[in-house]
Amino acid sequence: MSRYLRLGVNIDHVATIRNARGGDHPDPVRAAEIVARCGGDGITAHLREDRRHIRDDDLKRIQDATDLPLNLEMAATDEMLAIALAHQPHAACIVPEKREERTTEGGLDAAGQHNHLAPIVGQLKDAGIRVSLFIEASERQLDAALQLAVPVVEFHTGEYAHAALDGDNAKVASELKRITDMSALAAKNGIEPHAGHGLTYDNVQPIAAIPQLAELNIGHYLIGEAIFDGLEPAVLKMRELMDLAR
Ligand code: PXP
Repeated sequence: MSRYLRLGVNIDHVATIRNARGGDHPDPVRAAEIVARCGGDGITAHLREDRRHIRDDDLKRIQDATDLPLNLEMAATDEMLAIALAHQPHAACIVPEKREERTTEGGLDAAGQHNHLAPIVGQLKDAGIRVSLFIEASERQLDAALQLAVPVVEFHTGEYAHAALDGDNAKVASELKRITDMSALAAKNGIEPHAGHGLTYDNVQPIAAIPQLAELNIGHYLIGEAIFDGLEPAVLKMRELMDLAR
């Protein structure tokens, strides 16, 4: 039997709606509590440099509200490093925020940025934070992750999701193969592979079926479905689809 696949729920877009009015409703902390109650395995939140969704004070409130592990998505900057070290999330996923930090597909250019990333990765690891790099599924980026000695990589599924949306079956198949092959290679080299971005009820199962993947991080679609069905049913349905695919 395949290993259990964890579901990290990205609650950023609850904060996006809150911030549209500048007040405190809807509160992403309430979303985190619901995720905890209905069997989500983690909370993912991206503190962006422009604070367009999650804000600094949300982090502590999320950590206080649930026992679920917090996966902090962060740019590789001194400001974000200091915030991560102060909050001690379970995991930190380094993501690109600026054009020059990313590959053509949108993942972090870990290969091109080795010298910049190495000290940040080192300080996060020294603090006991599980570091992950959000990279495209390529040997070049995986090699860079190995050089940086991170325990986790998260493969960017955006291209796969776009191809599925466009009905481009050949591209869906080639993206899936890339993610499948790189997940196997990561696991073989002792790196735990995760995946995320753009995953939906319709496209999640082929990704969830990749046996080496240990975690999916899903946000925008779940929060969108929550508008119609509620967050708990949305999380439960995603959970069921993931389980059926294993
Ligand atoms: N994983 C990472 C590293 C992300 O930055 C994001 C948000 O872009 C997600 C997963 C979730 O993506 P989505 O909101 O499209 O489900």
